[in-house]
Amino acid sequence: MSSISTKKQSASKLPFEICGGQTRLAIMTKTAPATTTSSAAPTDHLALIDVDYVHFIVGNAKQAAFFYAQAFGFQVDQVSDLTTGNRDSAKYLLTQGNIRILLETPLTPTHPFNKELTRFGDGIKDIALTVFDAEKAYEQAVRNGGESAYEPYTVSNATGSATFAGIKTYGRAVHTFVSRSGAYSLPNIKAGGLFLPNFAKVENYALNTYNREHVCGLKFFDHCVGNVELGKMNYWVNWYEQVMGFKMFKHFDDADISTEYSALMSKVMASGNHLIKMPINEPAAGKRKSQIQEYLDWHDQTPGVQHLAFRTDDELTSVAELRRRGVDFLTIPEAYYKNVWERVNALLIKSGHEAVKEDHQRVRDLGILVDADDEGYLLQLFTKPLQDRPTMFFEIICRRGSQSFGKGNFKALFESLEMEQGRRGNL
Ligand code: FE2
Repeated sequence: MSSISTKKQSASKLPFEICGGQTRLAIMTKTAPATTTSSAAPTDHLALIDVDYVHFIVGNAKQAAFFYAQAFGFQVDQVSDLTTGNRDSAKYLLTQGNIRILLETPLTPTHPFNKELTRFGDGIKDIALTVFDAEKAYEQAVRNGGESAYEPYTVSNATGSATFAGIKTYGRAVHTFVSRSGAYSLPNIKAGGLFLPNFAKVENYALNTYNREHVCGLKFFDHCVGNVELGKMNYWVNWYEQVMGFKMFKHFDDADISTEYSALMSKVMASGNHLIKMPINEPAAGKRKSQIQEYLDWHDQTPGVQHLAFRTDDELTSVAELRRRGVDFLTIPEAYYKNVWERVNALLIKSGHEAVKEDHQRVRDLGILVDADDEGYLLQLFTKPLQDRPTMFFEIICRRGSQSFGKGNFKALFESLEMEQGRRGNL
């Protein structure tokens, strides 16, 4: 028997996304401890251990799970739905490498996620971060000026527990702090254990077998990009510094990221241990509509996550496999490859690094982008939007020393994006 305990709130204030079918269970008045099995807790309660999961709200989690498994090679690892006693929503845990994506669909007409789906379509609600003590991390973030999304609560059973607490970040997005113990500790989950009470392993899913035999090679979240409104980038940069203890990692202005028609500005925030990088984009003035403004126009003028970048050790193998599976990537203009090797290798020679080792013709055939800086180079490619609204998409990135984000590719990328925007009548 599992239970939920909260510090000071009623069951009705619990977030549906986590407690789901467990809302019928007893609510106790005191938060059960959920210490991690990790070594000594730090004095900085906002020290991050991992990205616990990224939470998508979708219209049909069963079909979305199949899509992400088929297109991107995820394991449809666990489920929490009617069959496991969850009568409010259906949740699927997708895994690949150290990536965990939680897909959730509301099942009842009164579920609060219905409104989010109407406003935003399928998209990302929460970037959940593992910490040593979720309650203490939440309290520290609130003391630092963060606004509560929901107060701490713990789900537990005889085998272990997990504590959750959420703060609001830009627009509709939330950061949940998660601390885990016993059977639900992160090492146990990585070893194949259950994500939470009321989850069950998915059995006999043919795509899981297929994906184990045809790997896409996605390892972990490299970065997670947010789009905010015009004039709000610095507000959220300061927010990540003051509330989360992040530091500025890089910044780009509209001189770096512009074409004749559109532009954006971007600053990259990184957690103290560089576990996660969170670039923040805002639109910049151009002759035509910025891609960031297009996102906002189709996202109810509300900031949100624009893209997730997944790291691979082998860009060519990953992109070849994803293309074979039918992933729809942006088309890079042919002209891009006329001077890319000159540009990139000149930068690498100047900074004393080896030239790009990947086969140039294959890079071109696969339509992959390459860029370099004084630390090395990177290969990257972007999907088209993953749903009908031109909002969220994925990036596949491989780093060979470079810790940047492909500044030298922005122009080619924007030209490709503008071509797509034009096709959608949004330029
Ligand atoms: Fe990116």
